[in-house]
Amino acid sequence: MREVVHPGGKHGATLILGIGELTTNAPGTPGATDDDPTGVVHDAAVLLDGDRVAWTGPERDAADGVEEALGRAPDRTVDAGNRAVIPGFVDSHTHLVFAGDRAAEFEARMAGRPYAAGGIAGTVAATRAASDAELLAGLRRLVGEALAQGTTTLEVKSGYGLTVVDEVRSVRLAREMTDEVTFLGAHVVPPEFEGRPDEYVDLVCGEMLAACAPHARWVDVFCETGAFSLAQARRVLLAGASAGLGVRVHANQLGPGEGVRLAVELGAASVDHCTYLSDDDVAALAGSWAGGGPGTVATLLPGVEFSTRQPYPDARRLLDAGAVVALASDCNPGSSYTSSMPLCVALAVREMGMTVAEAVWAATAGGARALRRADVGSLAPGARADLVVLDAPSRVHLAYRPGVPLAARVYRAGREVAHSSAR
Ligand code: NIG
Ligand code: FE
Repeated sequence: MREVVHPGGKHGATLILGIGELTTNAPGTPGATDDDPTGVVHDAAVLLDGDRVAWTGPERDAADGVEEALGRAPDRTVDAGNRAVIPGFVDSHTHLVFAGDRAAEFEARMAGRPYAAGGIAGTVAATRAASDAELLAGLRRLVGEALAQGTTTLEVKSGYGLTVVDEVRSVRLAREMTDEVTFLGAHVVPPEFEGRPDEYVDLVCGEMLAACAPHARWVDVFCETGAFSLAQARRVLLAGASAGLGVRVHANQLGPGEGVRLAVELGAASVDHCTYLSDDDVAALAGSWAGGGPGTVATLLPGVEFSTRQPYPDARRLLDAGAVVALASDCNPGSSYTSSMPLCVALAVREMGMTVAEAVWAATAGGARALRRADVGSLAPGARADLVVLDAPSRVHLAYRPGVPLAARVYRAGREVAHSSAR
């Protein structure tokens, strides 16, 4: 891939030429067909100006596009060498603030032991025992790992502290890495509250929420047998909403339940897992977008089904009903210890009935919908300049070449933040 820095130029505007296949997620982009929600343009170019996308379109129109959008020559030109470009991945569901790992639990599971929410307690003990510096080092390592694979927007949850002090430091540390911080004090009932779940919910909705809300944008709850009941989940979410937080929910992961419908009823931005859905759940999710939205996104987390050997969620059923679907990693040491959005795309295509176009959209624009963000997940002019140059001629390779590191260059807010030295 060739790059030319023009003499005397500032590093403000970058023109990327020679893009074999550009996914914009912006229907109506010059050169894209009208009926393509992923707004694909072949033989394309992208102009980045500062931290924003300034222009996209066919390469043959780039000179005019640059003149119109910038009014001067770009400061830098990059030749993508006929590679594919996609928007940066938006990973709308991770649990990156933790210490230790659960490799032994994973190994036992692969030998036949079922996954249960109870394993979370082991990570809670390790997290409470860790220093801030240790937690931050782990967080930085995982954020860097995700970035190198093309993730340019990342949500991070608390939920392995489960005391006021440990939840506050979790959201505070997460806030050092991202604006998309979620307070998940209601992840499980911690051991010291065993048999007294409602007293723990009192703490979560009271002192813990008050201390965490200033550092968070979202509230979340694990509404599932073995975690929190429907009534407890409702209390947590309503308290979080009254504290000014947006609502998201973990539900229907391990079995059917009413969590999905609670999420829709409360206008949650997203309900995550959605592995076991009734017809009513699917209708509620689709119906939430009927008035033009924003509704509740069904965020599917195929790394979990891969790592817990559960049945994959039926994305096809959701899409065919008109629901909006996102893909996210759920990166955490128990149920899905992967930061790889390309893996999620590959699993969604191979196992969940999604087309490559749907899976790439769900991992980018879908994640942005799940975070109610209009500035990321697409490469429309004005969007944040987050993109991935794939070392492949098309996005199909994300599913076709599973496990292969395909992010050749990653740009976040107009700056190149990862560059694979092999390319
Ligand atoms: O999203 N479902 C609840 N929480 C996590 C699992 C956390 C863990 O096992 O440590 C999840 O899968
Ligand atoms: Fe999760």
